[in-house]
Parts: sequence; C-alpha cells; structure tokens
Amino acid sequence: MTRKLEFNVFRYQPQDPESVPHTDTFEVEETASMTLFIALTQIREEQDPSLQFDFCCRAGICGACAVMINGQPGLACHTLTRDLPEEITLMPLPIFKLIGDLSVDTGTWFRQMHEKLESWVHTDKAFEPEAQEEPMENDLAEEIYELERCIECGCCVAGCGTANMRADFMGAAAMNRIARFMMDPRDRRTEREYFEVIGTDEGIFGCMGLLGCEDVCPKGLPLQDQLGLLRRKMGWSAVKQLFKFKS
Ligand code: SF4
Ligand code: SF4
Ligand code: FES
Repeated sequence: MTRKLEFNVFRYQPQDPESVPHTDTFEVEETASMTLFIALTQIREEQDPSLQFDFCCRAGICGACAVMINGQPGLACHTLTRDLPEEITLMPLPIFKLIGDLSVDTGTWFRQMHEKLESWVHTDKAFEPEAQEEPMENDLAEEIYELERCIECGCCVAGCGTANMRADFMGAAAMNRIARFMMDPRDRRTEREYFEVIGTDEGIFGCMGLLGCEDVCPKGLPLQDQLGLLRRKMGWSAVKQLFKFKS
C-alpha cells in the first residue's frame, strides 16, 4: 500500500529580519525507491518553490545534501524513504552556518579546518612539473586512497558530541585527514610537528571516543581506527615530550 509521508521541514532565512524559525509540514505520496532528495524536489516543484536545500551530484559523491533526518545526520540523496517512518523531520546540520532552511555552509568550515591542518604534502623537494610521478607501493596507495574517500559532507561533525559542545574542535574529518598525511612517505612533517597541530583539546585529546562519527559517516570511512591510532601516537608523543622536559 502506498504510504503518505509527512515531512516536517525546518524553515528559516537568517538574512531576512522578518523570518522566524519554524517547521512547515508537507504531505508526499511515497513512490518506489523514493529518496529524501526526490521527496524534497517534489515538494519544491509542487508545493513550495521557496524551499531551500542543497544538492549537486545526487549520487553520494559531492556531500552537499547532508541534513538531520529524524535527529541523525545523513545524505538526502542516499536515504530511501522506505527505511524511515511515515513522519519525517528534516533539520539543517548543526555547527555549520545556516544559509537558509536546510542549506548550510560546510565549505567555510572545511576550508578553515584544512588551513589549520596545513592540508597538503609538506616536502623540501622543488616541484618539477615535467618530472614523472613518484612511485608508491600499491598497498600503501590504497590505504591512503581509503582515507581520501571523504566527501566533506559534515555528517561526522554534526553527529559529534564534542563538536556540538565546542566550536574549536576539529572533528573526525580533520583527524582522518591528518592520518592520511602521516601515512604518506612524501610528507616530511615530524611527529612533533603533527603534535603541534592535533595534540590538543581542539584536536585528538578533545575526542571522547564514543564514535558517533563513524556511525553516521555515509562513506563508511574507518574513523574509529584513525582516531585510535592518532590517540596512541599523540599520547606517546606527549609522554616523550614530558620525559624530555623533566630530564
Ligand atoms: S569519537 Fe571523537 S570525533 Fe567521533 S563523534 Fe565521538 S568525540 Fe566526535
Ligand atoms: S568522514 Fe565521512 S561523515 Fe565525515 S565528512 Fe567525510 S564522508 Fe562525511
Ligand atoms: S547530492 Fe551529492 S551527496 Fe547527495
């Protein structure tokens, strides 16, 4: 039997002084293989053209369509309505700046995160555009590629208890990113230099380890492994520095 879905959608335009945060309710008839993205598009086309939400690829690749779905972050284009109850509440991701309705600015957040991490390969070698690419062992290249699959959707940040309590916490996406550089033999940063970046409460020591991030990552990234690895490495680095300090 066809279900009638009831969508409670957060509405607010922060640029408009007249706008007041509230939810609007829309009814949509469920169709086979309907995703939240399809339902939202239908609402916008048939009921309210002013509804604002983000999307680009519709294939779980761009990370633009992340929203809070009945209290949990997820991708609208990858969430089937048949996996949800008839009543669905959609809210914008917390932490990120609200643009309007369900649309948030993840780009600025991720940019400042990359700037803090110095998110590039640090090497003393001069760049030679004509030179051949440096070879890398396949296994290692695959391990690095696994971490490169992050689509910067922001779900792990929105689902993180620490990030919701403190604005300066870098979050699992940042830890995943730094783990990727630590793995890369071309990056010449020392353990001490990595410690300077993430060996703080803003970084790995602020993580409570409850793994909400891994539970909600739509790409299934091994965040638990990376967080555990970094905690051990940076904890050991702190012990070494303390020992040196005392001796
Ligand atoms: S494990 Fe750490 S990074 Fe992941 S959700 Fe919990 S506090 Fe946030
Ligand atoms: S780690 Fe996963 S949840 Fe976090 S931003 Fe990347 S893809 Fe999204
Ligand atoms: S629209 Fe690109 S991930 Fe959903």
